Amino acid sequence: MSVRLSNGREIPIETHKIRIVQKVRLAPAADRLRAIEEAGYNTFMLRTRDIFMDMLTDSGTNAMSDNQLAAMMQSDDAYAGSESFYRLADAVKEIFGYEYLLPVHQGRAAEHLLAKIFVKPGDFVPMNYHFTTTKAHFELAGGKVLELFQDEALNTQSTCPFKGNMDLDKLTAAIRKAGPERIPFVRMEATTNLLGGQPFSLENLKAVKAIVGPLGIPLVVDGSLISENAFFIKQREPGYENRSITEIIREIMAEADICYLSGRKSCSVRGGFIATNIKKYSDMIREWLPVYEGFFTYGGMSSKEIEAMAVGVREMTELDVASSSADFVKYFAERLIESGIAVVTPPGGLACHIDAKIFLPHLPQSVYPAGALAAAVYLTSGIRGMERGTVSMDRDKDGNDVFSDLELLRLAIPRRVFTMSHIEYAVDRLSWLHKNRELVGGLEFYEEPPVLRFFAGKMRPLDGWGAKLAAKFAADLGENN
Ligand code: F0G
Repeated sequence: MSVRLSNGREIPIETHKIRIVQKVRLAPAADRLRAIEEAGYNTFMLRTRDIFMDMLTDSGTNAMSDNQLAAMMQSDDAYAGSESFYRLADAVKEIFGYEYLLPVHQGRAAEHLLAKIFVKPGDFVPMNYHFTTTKAHFELAGGKVLELFQDEALNTQSTCPFKGNMDLDKLTAAIRKAGPERIPFVRMEATTNLLGGQPFSLENLKAVKAIVGPLGIPLVVDGSLISENAFFIKQREPGYENRSITEIIREIMAEADICYLSGRKSCSVRGGFIATNIKKYSDMIREWLPVYEGFFTYGGMSSKEIEAMAVGVREMTELDVASSSADFVKYFAERLIESGIAVVTPPGGLACHIDAKIFLPHLPQSVYPAGALAAAVYLTSGIRGMERGTVSMDRDKDGNDVFSDLELLRLAIPRRVFTMSHIEYAVDRLSWLHKNRELVGGLEFYEEPPVLRFFAGKMRPLDGWGAKLAAKFAADLGENN
């Protein structure tokens, strides 16, 4: 929720009270330098004891509600036939409108099953944009991911309300070129994570369905951030202002043949699922569920998580929950823009994304500007963000870097975790860094895994810029800041 103050500014407002808290430590700059050096300038490799604000992700880091925690106490622990599963199935039926529910341990497990069952070597999988794990699974199965976004999607300084829309001409051309039989499904990601949490419109989704439906190509929605996409449709798509989040989710799901999701985001709980109304698809997936995930009624989740998910699926449709991350993202983005920092616009779901190419114009993509910015932000603030640029792309077959379309630093806003003073602190430290940005240099790998290298790869700062930046920070703001 947000409110307009009497001075005209719109601010996010919490419609909950905080009843359980967890201490965090603001480590001094010298400790932060040691920590990032040990982490190989990769924020994934930091320990949380060295982190003040963890903005790495909103995945599995949201504050759960009292009702979710209470539901966990009533879970029905059983290997098979647990009542907890049926309570989740009821919630999914009510909110998504789907009959068949296949629980999995998290989102990428759903992607693994879909890849195994649907994607064959030589296939093409069109989508509005890739996600890292999605691409890895579909490519490991021998498929090729086709990203059919509109050109505007890559404009970080845009006013386009639906940058997650698929380009319909590109879709038609791709189907003509590959042939429908080589396309196992089309995937639409509800708020395109790597484009900055940008939504698709219902109009676009319906148009995609109108193209693929008659050809017998299934439409798969990745609903990991479904309540945020629904919230943006309510805010931005004409005709949906007065529709509820549930009504909008139901309308999205009525177009899709299969929905899968990571429960760790919109639903605020560890877990995931695949759901559909098409028995044939459910049966095909069901066959492999016990092999890779677990029995049909738990799929790798604990019964406690299943109970919390049943509550989370319903709660994410409440307007204040659906908007809890998005409203903070918007405020954070507006404050950074006021400080002269280029962020992805319009502000999306899940995170505020800083355009590292604009922040660090002196760094070419070959020295990983978004990775360098992530390390520099940690050094100057204790805030951990996530590189979403070339470091997050694996090398091609010849060992060359694949330059990412965008070089972004993602500063995620987990739901109901941070307060306004946290955001103001972040704005202040980022502004200091922006004024001192010429001190930030590039990075080079010294340890580099071949797949999903961004998770565990280690890098060094070219010309040792990290120590110089930390020293300037301490000189300006004090040793203990
Ligand atoms: N799809 C989307 C759109 C996601 O954002 C994620 C995860 C997944 C699938 C995979 O789900 O993590 O439960 O296995 N996104 C996390 C993030 C990792 O930080 O954005 P998972």
